[in-house]
Amino acid sequence: MATLNNTQNNTQAKVFILHENPEWIPPFATAFKKANIDFQEWVFSDESGYTIDLAYEPPQGVFWSRLSASSHTRGHTYAKEYARAVLAWLAQHGRRVVNGENVLEFEVSKVRQYLALKAYGFKTPYTTAVFGKKSLLASAKKYTTPFIVKHNQGGKGLGVKRFDDFADFERYVNGVDFEEPIDGITLIQDYIPSKEPFITRAEFIGGKFHYAVRVDTSAGSFQLCPADACRIESLPELAGGTCDINGTQNNAFSLRTEITADTPIIQKLEAFLAEHHIEVAGVEFIETPSDETVIYDINTNTNYNATVEQSASQAAADRVVEFLSGL
Ligand SMILES: Nc1ncnc2c1ncn2[C@@H]1O[C@H](COP(=O)(O)OP(=O)(O)O)[C@@H](O)[C@H]1O
Ligand SMILES: [Mg+2]
Repeated sequence: MATLNNTQNNTQAKVFILHENPEWIPPFATAFKKANIDFQEWVFSDESGYTIDLAYEPPQGVFWSRLSASSHTRGHTYAKEYARAVLAWLAQHGRRVVNGENVLEFEVSKVRQYLALKAYGFKTPYTTAVFGKKSLLASAKKYTTPFIVKHNQGGKGLGVKRFDDFADFERYVNGVDFEEPIDGITLIQDYIPSKEPFITRAEFIGGKFHYAVRVDTSAGSFQLCPADACRIESLPELAGGTCDINGTQNNAFSLRTEITADTPIIQKLEAFLAEHHIEVAGVEFIETPSDETVIYDINTNTNYNATVEQSASQAAADRVVEFLSGL
């Protein structure tokens, strides 16, 4: 039995990382080590066998939640429920939590993201949330092709598909390849054309802009997870570069140095994140041929691309450690 209550074991660490995917931790572990700062992991999988005794307090420290919308794809179906319980307990005792309860709700719901972004004045894709399967086809009829479908609780491109043809969509919905969303909610949305074949992911740490990453989309993939752990090192059939599982080139990620803290969309995003107490996040947007910036994804569990980290004046992982240890 492993209790999360204040015990001898966990009084040393100042920073606690709450997550369910150990594969995403090494870059942060390296940064913590470099800064000579201890951290402890709370891993929300069934195997951890955690308990919390509600009569007692959590340990003292700073708690950083890195719960991910795609946890169910790693067999951690209840990670978000475990996290909800623990984050409520931490909040009740006034612990300093980075990306706390409300941020988890953003992470697991693109509906919530779009509503909040739109209310703040950002352009978001026209979207319909479809509950279950029954109304999917009828809902898609409101859209002109191409349109996009994706999961409300998404991450790493889950269920993201572009349809250029209603007949294809019908085959998909009625076929064996239909990807059931974990929360039952499929989103249908306008396809946003981009002026040039890339999307931008702006990283914020401690609520402040850190850097913007250009992610090349010319290979056509929608699975654009920046983490090393999302990549298969070499696929022999793809000469001239390694690829992730779904065809994103390793060299698809580069710094967009022309985007700075003074760029208007960045300033507005900082204000938006502050309003919602989102302290660490990667926000994705597309710039359209008519020079509109459309925001379509907020990653509150953000991973940093290794190549970009090397070329940045300060690696984001180092900045995260600096931020957390300064709290
Ligand atoms: N409405 C859209 N129009 C055009 N491309 C899109 C749209 N939505 C998603 N994409 C593409 O698919 C990728 C994954 O979609 P996203 O909404 O970020 O889901 P996830 O949370 O799984 O990363 C995006 O980075 C982008 O390249
Ligand atoms: Mg995304």
